[in-house]
Amino acid sequence: MTSYEKVKSRASMIEEVLLDRRMPPWDADPHVGKFANDASLSVADAQTLLRWVHQGAPRGAGDDPLEKIDPKPAPEWPLGPPDIVLRLPKAESIPATGVLPYRHIEVLAGNSNQAWVGAVWIKPGNRKIVHHVIARLKEGGVKDHLGGDEMFAGWAPGTTQGWLPKGSGKMLPANARFDFELHYTPTGAAQTDQTEIGLYLLAEKPGSRFESVPVVNTTFELKPGDADSQVSAMYGFTRPATLHSVTPHMHLRGRWMKFEALYPDGRRELLCSVPRYDFNWQFTYVFDKPKRVPAGTWVLASGGYDNSVRNPANPDAKKFVHWGDQTFNEMFLGWYNVAWDAEPPTQASVGQ
Ligand code: HEM
Repeated sequence: MTSYEKVKSRASMIEEVLLDRRMPPWDADPHVGKFANDASLSVADAQTLLRWVHQGAPRGAGDDPLEKIDPKPAPEWPLGPPDIVLRLPKAESIPATGVLPYRHIEVLAGNSNQAWVGAVWIKPGNRKIVHHVIARLKEGGVKDHLGGDEMFAGWAPGTTQGWLPKGSGKMLPANARFDFELHYTPTGAAQTDQTEIGLYLLAEKPGSRFESVPVVNTTFELKPGDADSQVSAMYGFTRPATLHSVTPHMHLRGRWMKFEALYPDGRRELLCSVPRYDFNWQFTYVFDKPKRVPAGTWVLASGGYDNSVRNPANPDAKKFVHWGDQTFNEMFLGWYNVAWDAEPPTQASVGQ
């Protein structure tokens, strides 16, 4: 977009993507909650843009400000040079075709002392084929309530990355060992990937520990042709925390998901609603004002799947679908991303 002419030539495409809400990409219901990273346009701004298109995309007076922009490549590390870089020990070779099981590769941080991490930035080595990366701490992390190793960092296209909320951090044990879970999706040509993760250390121990709490249901079944199979999962907070954001995760049949809190005083609050979930945008919805979650709060994630032929992304509407790793299987996973007031609980608190 380096000149008026270039933008004008795309005017009718801009109209199309605004009207069918493909752009800007943002899937949350605008009437529920306020989000710090909301990328959507206000109705007034969208109308201005549409009127401009309808008037024939007229040029304003004076010089073209776009021509003065010096287009720079995106920085290698948007947060600056990391203190520690976790790197796959060697480039992974990805064949041209096939369905690949997840790869698990050990990566050593090489830190001799315990440290606190304030930000994590995942740099996929090859965006054509990296479907997702999850780095789990092999030992010394917070076990999640399902008994899984701590998910230290995760990336998929559209992931919201940046500094953790002020005053919170993740503990990096001395000599930290990570398991990198890599899901690659072949594209028709052989590829390689050497993904890296940058860690940014805090000068001192933060007041609270940050954790992404998985609220998950692995036991559902979607029937062939069913356009709205509903699934839900709950989690009970046994300790107080501050809830900063939520992340819905489903696959291609995912249609909607919402996040609610049931407070101990009986209030029920709809925190975030994603009425038109899109697998291609793995957003984290960051609350404008973080929510206090007293001990005794239950959180509920509920969602629906469209396993019918009316869902254009559906890989196969004739199949029964269950939980599974591949995109043609499904997942029901809502992350509640919290900073614990004190230490995180170690006890499992709820089932599905
Ligand atoms: C007023 C705001 C925006 C407008 C008018 C706009 C417009 C467009 C248009 C016209 C296209 C081409 C669509 C096509 O060829 O089908 C496009 C593609 C794209 N836009 Fe935007 N966009 C906006 C904001 C954003 C934002 C905030 C992001 C990133 C967070 C983004 C990411 C993308 C990506 C990744 C594509 C390529 C999608 C694909 O090839 O499937 N856009 N946008």
